Amino acid sequence: MATRPTARTPHAATGHAPAAALRLCVRRAALLALAALAAGLGAPRPSAAQWPNGITIDQTPHNLTRPAKNTDPDMRNRIADFDEICVYCHAPHWGAGPTPLWNRPNPAGGYRMPEINDPDMIQDPQPTGNSVKCLSCHDGTIGLDGVIKPPITFSGPRFGQTIDECEGCHSGGNPAGGIDWEGVWLDTDLRKQHPFSVLYDPSRDPNFRSIAEVEAAGLVLYDGKVQCMTCHEPHTERYRPFLRIPRTGFCSVCHIGNPGESTAHHW
Ligand code: HEC
Ligand code: HEC
Ligand code: HEC
Ligand code: HEC
Ligand code: HEC
Repeated sequence: MATRPTARTPHAATGHAPAAALRLCVRRAALLALAALAAGLGAPRPSAAQWPNGITIDQTPHNLTRPAKNTDPDMRNRIADFDEICVYCHAPHWGAGPTPLWNRPNPAGGYRMPEINDPDMIQDPQPTGNSVKCLSCHDGTIGLDGVIKPPITFSGPRFGQTIDECEGCHSGGNPAGGIDWEGVWLDTDLRKQHPFSVLYDPSRDPNFRSIAEVEAAGLVLYDGKVQCMTCHEPHTERYRPFLRIPRTGFCSVCHIGNPGESTAHHW
């Protein structure tokens, strides 16, 4: 089980030499200067640092062809360019994995599940359903390009870089490019995460709304369970970060009263 370092410095995960770090700083300084110049000229700031709030998946961080095609020296040989967005998760034709044409291996398991202080509902002992699929990238154990079947047109090497290796550089919003990765690597120790793979049963706890209310609000239960995709929809960032509904009032879709925490994941 991976232990999560408390402090991470850029390049820590990759063991890059300080020269690379220096190169990075120089590049950032140049970018900042450019940004300042652009601001001074009243031109729009360079927008490479930000993803648009994409309606379609190509405009979201789940378009992995984008980092794969990035020409920055630090980005070289990190993720295979399959030249197709869906393939990092789905195999369109080969039916390599279980429905819906899932194209990624399942992670090995051995998770520490979220710990509920005063549990009333039943949480599966290990992740189930679509949560396993999300964890096949987000727990940092399987390379982002570690799909079961790459496209037949693909002959290049694969690099097997995991999301925690990406986070080694992309932390706290640095370097520019991509998103602020703080929290994107969930790890196999899931104690800091919101409970999931839980059978949603408000009859066990008066502080929760009815199933009908939850579904009417736009959240989705899978076999009656709260899974990652109850709250998230991985194909669109209409509501960032990949949320099904806007953030306002999000928690009180299920919880009656304040669940006592301001964020769904790290507390
Ligand atoms: C980052 C991973 C990821 C990418 C990339 C991705 N999907 Fe998905 N997709 C998922 C997951 C996870 C599910 C739900 C699997 C399940 O229900 O077990 C899903 C489900 C689906 C479904 C079933 C209906 C649904 O919404 O539940 C369709 C259709 C689909 N995806 C199409 C696509 C297409 C087309 C692309 C490329 C444009 C794509 N997906 C890219 C992760 C992804
Ligand atoms: C193929 C690997 C892969 C799979 C499968 C995957 N993700 Fe991701 N996800 C990523 C990567 C990589 C990033 C960060 C990308 C970046 O910043 O460039 C990310 C980012 C995110 C973010 C942050 C987005 C933001 O705008 O801040 C959320 C939320 C997220 N994923 C949820 C999910 C959920 C939920 C699932 C399952 C339904 C899932 N992901 C499946 C690779 C994956
Ligand atoms: C050694 C440091 C380093 C590592 C490790 C790293 N990146 Fe990057 N990444 C960068 C730099 C530098 C840039 C370019 C920043 C810029 O353009 O201003 C970048 C840019 C990006 C972008 C923006 C691409 C674009 O065209 O807009 C994404 C997305 C991204 N990285 C994702 C990833 C993913 C996914 C991984 C892991 C597979 C990863 N990075 C690993 C340093 C790194
Ligand atoms: C009960 C709803 C809910 C469930 C279940 C849930 N999430 Fe989230 N998730 C959220 C919300 C809300 C945010 C935005 C939190 C914020 O920005 O304060 C979020 C943020 C994220 C992020 C962005 C990083 C961060 O912490 O800000 C990732 C990645 C993510 N979720 C992945 C997952 C995965 C993978 C699962 C399943 C193992 C999951 N989520 C289950 C509601 C949920
Ligand atoms: C889809 C329904 C749903 C949504 C939306 C939801 N939760 Fe929960 N939450 C649950 C369930 C189910 C439990 C476990 C209840 C139990 O077993 O008693 C839970 C438990 C919790 C707990 C208790 C953990 C503990 O240790 O006792 C906290 C805190 C929490 N949620 C916070 C939040 C926050 C913050 C949000 C909004 C970002 C949120 N929840 C959104 C369903 C939801």
